[in-house]
Amino acid sequence: MKLVLIASTDSKEAEKISNTLPQDQKAAIIQSSDQLVSLSNGSAIVIVDHNFYEQYGLDFFKDILKNPHPPFLMLAPPDDIQTMVEIMEIGMHHIPKIPDYQKLLGLAVNNALAQINEQEQLKQTIVTLQKSVKELESAEREEKAPVEGQSSFETKPHEVKTNILDEIVFVFKRGEIELPTLPQMSIRFQEMVNKGINLQDIGELLKQDTAISSKLISVSNSVYYRGITESKNLGQAISRLGLKNAKRYVDAICNRSLYATKNKRFVKLLERLWEHSLACAYASQILDESLALNLQDDAFTMGLLHDIGRLLLFQIIGDLQLKKKLGDEIENEELLNTIDGHHGKFGAALLKKWKFSEGFVKIAAYHDNSTMADSITKDMAVVHFANLMVKSLGYTTNGSEGDPMQEINLEDTESARFLGLDVSMIDEYKDQVSTFMQDLKGLFA
Ligand SMILES: [Fe+2]
Ligand SMILES: [Fe+2]
Repeated sequence: MKLVLIASTDSKEAEKISNTLPQDQKAAIIQSSDQLVSLSNGSAIVIVDHNFYEQYGLDFFKDILKNPHPPFLMLAPPDDIQTMVEIMEIGMHHIPKIPDYQKLLGLAVNNALAQINEQEQLKQTIVTLQKSVKELESAEREEKAPVEGQSSFETKPHEVKTNILDEIVFVFKRGEIELPTLPQMSIRFQEMVNKGINLQDIGELLKQDTAISSKLISVSNSVYYRGITESKNLGQAISRLGLKNAKRYVDAICNRSLYATKNKRFVKLLERLWEHSLACAYASQILDESLALNLQDDAFTMGLLHDIGRLLLFQIIGDLQLKKKLGDEIENEELLNTIDGHHGKFGAALLKKWKFSEGFVKIAAYHDNSTMADSITKDMAVVHFANLMVKSLGYTTNGSEGDPMQEINLEDTESARFLGLDVSMIDEYKDQVSTFMQDLKGLFA
């Protein structure tokens, strides 16, 4: 925790000021200009009592504030307009030292500290994200290390232009990127499921968000789920869907909101990515169910999140362009190639940060590897296959609408063999995914 510095030449006053700070906040009282010079940079905020300012004068503070510095807050005599103007001009904040100033000071300092904490947390997150990306990169390098007798040229991963990525890493380092946060409702729903809380209480939780609950009711009334009667309220909707499906669709509804963008250029691409993710979620679910795999993590959610790295990169790039920190003239092809080549690592890092299990993180990292490792797991095979299958149905992440990826023999893929799928099974799955998408894709927006 960073220190709060209290600069005062009067030790009793300094004591009073330090009593206004939160109890767990560390503070140091300083009385000399030397101490202020040496300590100010590592501190969270500097509170300057007016007696200290009077002793050392405007020029001394001007010098300090020329360079990067924490916020300076001065307790100024309320009738000394001249001083207030002086210090405002050099970038110092002030509050009037009225008889009851402690309350005011306490509030001002608390606000400043909260802001500083937020920035610190964001920095921390970015550092963690970078670390995870590096870890994943080195893990990937090890995996792709040349096998004896094979030239390193043959095992080199496909080249990806890194200019956009360089820029992203650059702004990351400067702390200028905000990472999306996992929607609160998803987190709280999961916590309740973990605690084994009953449907009624879960209903109470969902009711707090009318947008989510009304969408959940429409899903339960879709052709796909419709019973004899219409579900009119959340309770009926949840009991029709069952807890598992309710959880899946709440995740989908919450996730859907992350696909919004202010950058017009990306609206369509993100729409397509959303449909790709939703289709992949459902395809993963029916693979898990029909093959009775009983995967440890929910297949639907794994499918839903497998390309979250694409979303993250679209969002970052879109944001940087709007803030004019990245040129508009990036070619679509370059953009899509960069995202293709790097979304695995970014997605894995984001899911790690969101505290998803190792299984989710690995799927985000490796689902696109066409030559999968020997240690292929059931959940990896499911999402790998679901991803290819929905692309063959036209739910691609690139290209234009309704333009299926170039012909791929689905039954001839490693994941199909691993799962033991034949042509007729695959056709049946395709039908089911198409029906699901027709009936439900419009209901989450
Ligand atoms: Fe992907
Ligand atoms: Fe994908």
